[in-house]
Amino acid sequence: MHFPSTTAMLWPLLSLSSVVLADSTNLPDVPPGVFNVSTSIVISHTNLASAWDALSDFPAYPKWNPFVRSSIAVDAANVSLPTQRPIENTQLILRVQIPALPLPVDENTPDNPLATQFSYENVTHVQPELNRLAWVAYPNPLITAERWQALTDLGRGKVRYESREVFSGPLAPVLEGTIKDSLQESFDAQGEGLKLWLEGGYRS
Ligand SMILES: *[C@@H]1O[C@H](CO)[C@@H](O)[C@H](O)[C@H]1NC(C)=O
Ligand SMILES: *[C@@H]1O[C@H](CO)[C@@H](O)[C@H](O)[C@H]1NC(C)=O
Ligand SMILES: *[C@@H]1O[C@H](CO)[C@@H](O)[C@H](O)[C@H]1NC(C)=O
Repeated sequence: MHFPSTTAMLWPLLSLSSVVLADSTNLPDVPPGVFNVSTSIVISHTNLASAWDALSDFPAYPKWNPFVRSSIAVDAANVSLPTQRPIENTQLILRVQIPALPLPVDENTPDNPLATQFSYENVTHVQPELNRLAWVAYPNPLITAERWQALTDLGRGKVRYESREVFSGPLAPVLEGTIKDSLQESFDAQGEGLKLWLEGGYRS
């Protein structure tokens, strides 16, 4: 009877591999830029489908997102698309708060005019099978900014949300010296807002 001892020897390997999986990022490897901002947060009492839906449902952003107050999906002529979800090779017109608004927010929370900025982005990757999304700030010789968002199923109703934006180009050091810290706050705040939204903090 060798089976019991073989099984016992496998246990450490099985638990080790699940620990490694839980710690590994679902953000893709991208070349380092001049600087980046990133965030990571574990959300409980949810699942991948709900978290993916929240990130993809642009009309609902104002109800929970303290950073991206409005995201409008448009075609190359800036005509609003019938489906207000991320679609590869279409564009987004974003109205953001840098730094973010204090939580909680809802659709009636006014912008802070001093923190309001607009950006125009190309949706480059919509990967539901990998639980990843990416957009890139519209081609500009002075600055390239690529933002990824990713979800990981941690099991037992837990999902990790991650986001990272990498900046490069001649203007990147200037942005690093001016908005990096406020933008970092905005990235953290979007993760906290998503957690509050998905954990039902708005419904209690
Ligand atoms: C992001 O910044 C950190 C800290 O400076 C650095 O270690 C990391 O390599 C950067 N990642 C990317 C993809 O630029
Ligand atoms: C679409 O809107 C963006 C952001 O306002 C602007 O930069 C771009 O030139 C517009 N494109 C067209 C075709 O009007
Ligand atoms: C953005 O999309 C336009 C139109 O599809 C394309 O011509 C351009 O190369 C894209 N730029 C980036 C940085 O992906």
